[in-house]
Amino acid sequence: MKKVIISGTGRSIPRLCITNEEISKYVDTNDEWIVSRTGISERRICQEEEAIDLAVESARKALKSSSINADDIDMIIVATMTADMATPSMACMVQKEIGASKATAFDINAACTGFIFALSVGESFISSGKASNALVVGVDTLSKYINWQDRTTSVLFGDGAGAAVLTTGNQSGIRSFYTKSYGDLGCNIEVGGAPIREIFTGKLLREKHPYISMNGKEVFKFASFAMIDAIENVLDKGQLSIDDIDLIIPHQANKRIIEYASKRMKQPIEKFYMNMDRFGNTSSASVAIALDEAMEKNIIKKGQKVILTGFGGGLTAGAVLVEF
Ligand code: ACO
Repeated sequence: MKKVIISGTGRSIPRLCITNEEISKYVDTNDEWIVSRTGISERRICQEEEAIDLAVESARKALKSSSINADDIDMIIVATMTADMATPSMACMVQKEIGASKATAFDINAACTGFIFALSVGESFISSGKASNALVVGVDTLSKYINWQDRTTSVLFGDGAGAAVLTTGNQSGIRSFYTKSYGDLGCNIEVGGAPIREIFTGKLLREKHPYISMNGKEVFKFASFAMIDAIENVLDKGQLSIDDIDLIIPHQANKRIIEYASKRMKQPIEKFYMNMDRFGNTSSASVAIALDEAMEKNIIKKGQKVILTGFGGGLTAGAVLVEF
């Protein structure tokens, strides 16, 4: 089995920054509530940009930092739940823009766990010899699906993209991954879908929820369990203990979920990378953006062991254990 390494990362975030103060002009909320209940102070929202613009920019940066040419990419996996179009896929659109003509390109949807699922798919193809170099992108523009009159969801999300290039290496790399889906809990986070109409008359038969709806309390309970479960499983598979881990990069949904995990696992909070204060919950992009920031700031050093972990719609959860 070949060792699969993360050879480069990149990110892209929209220009427009919306602070808690600004949101509180439109809905009955305030900075104190949002910061204390979530850890979020501001988020970036697409205005002129579309998801494809963010995906392509993050992909180009990841390719540049990995020194791999688009021509050598033979697989593109985009994790998203907010693709610009039903078809072509975001991955095919990225392929066109970066000129990766040799790649097989497809999207996957595991909501906020999307980047973790996409990394595990890329790792499986490369370690089994069925691909050589994979570009993995996590991108979401959930602002398209937010009801800005709903204070329970509008304060939580931001838009963004993050990318990583996977290739083969000798020593370090992805040691293990773990993914799990909980379809029976799916109703706790629902977004969109076209309404069902009677053929010819156009009579509305079934309305679908156009905006994101979430049972925050249930998702909070699920996340507190599922993230720790995913971390324990990926450690088990990688034959390491939590004390061997230098850094954990969790999905940036809520600071309190991360604080709970830190307490339960008896690990210092400094071991958990957090940036939700600036970006909010960027869904499929959140772990990818945080990973790229941690690389850029030189927080991750050669030889260190890092867990990337996420949870979200589906419901889904997962983790990847990487030795850099
Ligand atoms: N501003 C002010 N008050 C608010 C706001 C707001 N933005 N939102 C809710 N409240 C009020 C509620 O109305 C409620 O008031 P009441 O007591 O008078 O009824 C009170 O605050 C408490 O509300 P709760 O829902 O109990 O607040 P909670 O502490 O659970 O925090 C939150 C809500 C932040 C949504 C939390 O439940 C959470 O983070 N859940 C997990 C979300 C998550 O992780 N999602 C990830 C997946 S998303 C994906 O996959 C796309």
